[in-house]
Amino acid sequence: MSTSDRNYDDFASVIPVIEGIDNGRVLGLVAAEFERYKERTPKSAALLERARKHLINGVPTTWHSDWGLPYSFYVDRAKDATLWDIDGNEYIDFNLADTPAIFGHSPDNEVTRGIADQLLNGGLTTMAPTEDAVVVSELLAEHYALPYWYITLSASDSARNAINIARSVTGRSKILMFNLGYHGTCDETLCWRPRPGHDVVHRWSHLRPGIDAGAYTSVAEFNDLDQVEAALRNEDVAILMSEPHLTDGGFTYPIEGWHEGLRELCDRYGTLLLIDETHTQTAGPGGLTREWGLEPDLFMSGKCIAAGMPVGVIGMSEDVAKRYGALLNEGDPSAMGGCMGQGTTNSANAICVKALRLSLEHNFTDATYAKMNANMNSIERGMNEVIEKHGAGFRTDRFGARMNISFLPERAYDAKYALQGIGFGGLHEYWTYYCLNRGVLFIPFFNMIITSPYHTPDNCERVVQLWDEVIANLFDR
Ligand SMILES: Cc1ncc(COP(=O)(O)O)c(C=O)c1O
Repeated sequence: MSTSDRNYDDFASVIPVIEGIDNGRVLGLVAAEFERYKERTPKSAALLERARKHLINGVPTTWHSDWGLPYSFYVDRAKDATLWDIDGNEYIDFNLADTPAIFGHSPDNEVTRGIADQLLNGGLTTMAPTEDAVVVSELLAEHYALPYWYITLSASDSARNAINIARSVTGRSKILMFNLGYHGTCDETLCWRPRPGHDVVHRWSHLRPGIDAGAYTSVAEFNDLDQVEAALRNEDVAILMSEPHLTDGGFTYPIEGWHEGLRELCDRYGTLLLIDETHTQTAGPGGLTREWGLEPDLFMSGKCIAAGMPVGVIGMSEDVAKRYGALLNEGDPSAMGGCMGQGTTNSANAICVKALRLSLEHNFTDATYAKMNANMNSIERGMNEVIEKHGAGFRTDRFGARMNISFLPERAYDAKYALQGIGFGGLHEYWTYYCLNRGVLFIPFFNMIITSPYHTPDNCERVVQLWDEVIANLFDR
């Protein structure tokens, strides 16, 4: 793929054209699934009418209306790997809230019981640290090989504060990120370059009238070290932010030497390197940072880290922590925004820190990940057999308990190719809604499947069965 093909905002060019599949016919199949959805969810439809009076689109956050469905279903309850909507429909949950619930919904175990005990007997928030916070810092240091830790309320919150810390210690204002990278809802990272030569702008509906995104954010293509060097050369970039590999627009894998190259360029130009592990914790108890031996200056995570309680973390190297600590100790206002804190007043509250401790102790273990991986092994094997049986040029890619389905044949090293592989424009939607109407839930934004320790062999077999049906229907067999 040539660089000039990277027009991310040209939706037509993102839709894959696959021999033997009629995209128009597939859109008809999607429309039929929408009708089926409406028949299955009359109570959600009725509640929506009431909900619209005081909630925009009838939901409390846009994430709940981003499913692309005619309307959201409302959840009655969730337990282990199962979720029920208010119409009584039961779903095997392979979305798991986009990873926060990978260790199960309200599992009957020491983590849930410990959180409940803190809730009933220990207090929720005190604006003073508990011993749990100290234990947490020791556990995080063990997991990720970074010595210093800061606790926030979400991964987005970590991104915002990691940028603040980097700016404070480097005295520089800019950030560098990769096209189609996502690091949460902070202004600096909701940016992209929609096509080559275009200015960097805020993405989609994140309008910031009068604010020039390019003034504080630079965007390079993933796997292009020349673009990275061009962005860093002026020595005005405080922080380079990246996932180990991109996961939010399909999987884009790093080329050989990529991470070493980033490390070397950041060292050369005095930019701090941040690895965002938020979405790749499914790889294992130390994420891809440990598995690949990455050596970031700053690290962030969130989502599943505290078993679904809202927590984000920031890890710092000795050098960054010393420089940041020196600023704080000398009372330099550039570090703290006057004498106010970094993050929100309710950060590191007692209940969230308890959940973080329990999750690191009991969830982030080889034994837990072995169960999650065993479930994913059987899905991966089954789905690949189905692909082969149908002679379809699709593929699965995986790290640990997370799998990405691509409707294209090659592993993606280019973000545009990864985006095309999602199959927006019919394939992705048909797969997602066909399964949803038959009791299997996936995230609606990209083709991700996540396994928890609580999925059963039957649950995994059901995914494979549905994949077989969907491929047969796509090729009209
Ligand atoms: C890589 C990455 N970083 C950060 C975030 C932000 O997480 P949160 O929405 O929990 O703040 C996300 C969310 O999907 C993510 O995928």
